[in-house]
Amino acid sequence: MSNFGKEKISDAKNIAVLTSGGDAPGMNAAVRAVVRTGIGYGMKVFGVRKGYNGLIDGDIFRMNLRSVRDVIHRGGTFLYTARSARFLEKEGVKKAAQTCSEHNLDAVVVIGGDGSFNGALELSKLSVPCIGIPATIDNDVGCTEYTIGFDTAMNTAMDMVDRLRDTAQSHNRCSVVEVMGRRSGEIALKTGIAVGATAILVPEIPFDIEKDVINRIKKTKETGKEHFIVVVAEGVNHVNDIAKKIFESTGVETKATVLGHVQRGGNPTLRDRVVASEMGHYAVDLILQNKLNRIVGLKCGEVVDYSIKEALNMHKEFDIDLYKTALDISI
Ligand code: F6P
Repeated sequence: MSNFGKEKISDAKNIAVLTSGGDAPGMNAAVRAVVRTGIGYGMKVFGVRKGYNGLIDGDIFRMNLRSVRDVIHRGGTFLYTARSARFLEKEGVKKAAQTCSEHNLDAVVVIGGDGSFNGALELSKLSVPCIGIPATIDNDVGCTEYTIGFDTAMNTAMDMVDRLRDTAQSHNRCSVVEVMGRRSGEIALKTGIAVGATAILVPEIPFDIEKDVINRIKKTKETGKEHFIVVVAEGVNHVNDIAKKIFESTGVETKATVLGHVQRGGNPTLRDRVVASEMGHYAVDLILQNKLNRIVGLKCGEVVDYSIKEALNMHKEFDIDLYKTALDISI
């Protein structure tokens, strides 16, 4: 529901927003939604730079409606981010809570992944209410079917592999491509399908190089296929070894490419901008309703919320049916 024309609340709240963990395209759109919704409700909104480090160091500033101009289309996070080692220590959490109390914060909106939500849980134990918004290109947060940044990262990876395919096709080569995802094969699976990969290797499913890669290449070669794409999730690793083995076993010249951080950058897609805007707005609505210490998620396309503890105990199942579909059609 729009807050335009809504009566300003009398006990105006002070809230802060920060981005934490690996940056993800769409984080800026989420910050923008938090700031604009909060101010629209009559709240004072503060930005915190460099994730939890900013809370520890007091790197916090008042934002206005125009503080978030020209950011909805930009990748990265203009608030900066960090994987804060200091916040893993009790002393760091205590200092962060002190900053929150000095600014009379009623809630902190944390935009990040599971690691960041663990941090939010610690902060909430020191009486700083938190709301989490899931943002990571890995889409590996248990309580939500979607995390901000995933769509952009997949599309970037797809675009890069399409380019590799042009050159692999021109030379009748095999291209082994590592995409991001330390513990999650989500990017690999969806990108693998989208680029017509002959084999997809993910950390969730143990694999046998002979059966799951070499034989698949040999079989498709027998039916006339002349160039091959193998997509490997970061968590599986060893793309150079895999490329070497493919060449030795099949005679197909094979090149390995690690896409790396290129997948994390770039302008967010429409989907990421819209989901980020919805989630940011919803997060502030929760604060307004005094529904605190919640993590926002997407369930069947609807925005929902869970307690932080509940959210951290939820696990996402790897989509084995989609994986089987990928294998069935890349023959
Ligand atoms: O944010 C998620 C992610 O991009 C993972 O896919 C990757 O394993 C990791 O972050 C890389 O982290 P960093 O940028 O800190 O090296």
